[in-house]
Amino acid sequence: MTSSHKIREVNMADEPQIIYAIRVFFEVIWMIIKVNYEVLKSTFRMVIPSDPKDVSDDIILITGAGHGMGREMALRFGRLGAKIVCVDINAKGNEETVKLIKQEKGEAFNYECDVTNRSAVMELAEKVSVQVGEVTILINNAGIMPCKPVLKHSEKEIRTMMDINVNGILWMIQAFLPAMLERNYGHIVSMSSMAGKMGLRNLVPYCGSKYGVRGIMEALSVELHEDPRDTNGIKFTTVCPYIVNTGLCHNPRIRFQKLMKTVEPGEAADQIVDAIRREYHEITIPSDMYYTNKIFGLLPPAAGKIMTDFIGTGLDPHD
Ligand SMILES: NC(=O)c1ccc[n+]([C@@H]2O[C@H](COP(=O)([O-])OP(=O)(O)OC[C@H]3O[C@@H](n4cnc5c(N)ncnc54)[C@H](O)[C@@H]3O)[C@@H](O)[C@H]2O)c1
Repeated sequence: MTSSHKIREVNMADEPQIIYAIRVFFEVIWMIIKVNYEVLKSTFRMVIPSDPKDVSDDIILITGAGHGMGREMALRFGRLGAKIVCVDINAKGNEETVKLIKQEKGEAFNYECDVTNRSAVMELAEKVSVQVGEVTILINNAGIMPCKPVLKHSEKEIRTMMDINVNGILWMIQAFLPAMLERNYGHIVSMSSMAGKMGLRNLVPYCGSKYGVRGIMEALSVELHEDPRDTNGIKFTTVCPYIVNTGLCHNPRIRFQKLMKTVEPGEAADQIVDAIRREYHEITIPSDMYYTNKIFGLLPPAAGKIMTDFIGTGLDPHD
């Protein structure tokens, strides 16, 4: 037993039983009131969403800005007047994104960095702080998706993917969270996936990494909530797209196209930018998957598999 457990027991033992019972009773009532208030507030917000926040004073760093959804988000935030810090391992693609933002009279900065390299990430944070300013919105978007049966993945493939999709996010958080905490202001966004909410064939390691992203985001928001400092000014958004036509998913198999359609990167970026500006905790793309996934989760595993067989959607191996 730890010493903190002992201290708690002593305190409780010091308190007369009746006082303790009354205190817990009122704590329960107070908790029920607060829980109901939050449920009502979020039900109200489902009908009348909060106004999107102005990001024109924000410095927004996007990893993987050189292609796909990262580039599309960068362009949209650039149009909204934010300073965009584009980060990618692919210097050419990143430069292209910066050029496109500047062509639209936006402000953008180009940093080549491999998110798996912790010391490079720490150096990046120092450079950006001096050369651009403190990042207020961090978007962890860089990711890869090898797609094949689990026994066909090489050790290198699995380690590289975990390093980019999971560890890269942890390094970015360690590098950019301290400045947010100092000012109690910031927003951390991470790209998970529908593969982080349900198991999909040919994506066993990838699903693990994207469940990991959701775990990191959930735990971080709880850790900051319980931090004795005031951390209310730091927001979190987790994004779970299904299939977005960026080239990442080569072989999608979709039985009911209307129900689970492939989304274009621009359309996905519109939804992500909107979710960040409204400070949503988690979104799925398409949005209706958010609730279908919750209902699906209530089913016993065997029933879930019958539905998965019927829906017949997934990814075929890439090679
Ligand atoms: N496309 C989809 O269908 C889909 C679905 C669900 C989730 N996602 C997730 O969304 C994110 C973006 O996906 P996308 O389809 O736009 O990807 P994409 O392949 O179009 O772009 C990813 C970018 O990340 C960069 N990158 C890769 N490794 C890096 C590293 N080590 N350091 C820095 N940058 C690196 C790449 O150079 C590339 O520019 C990923 O995290 C992905 O897992 C994508």
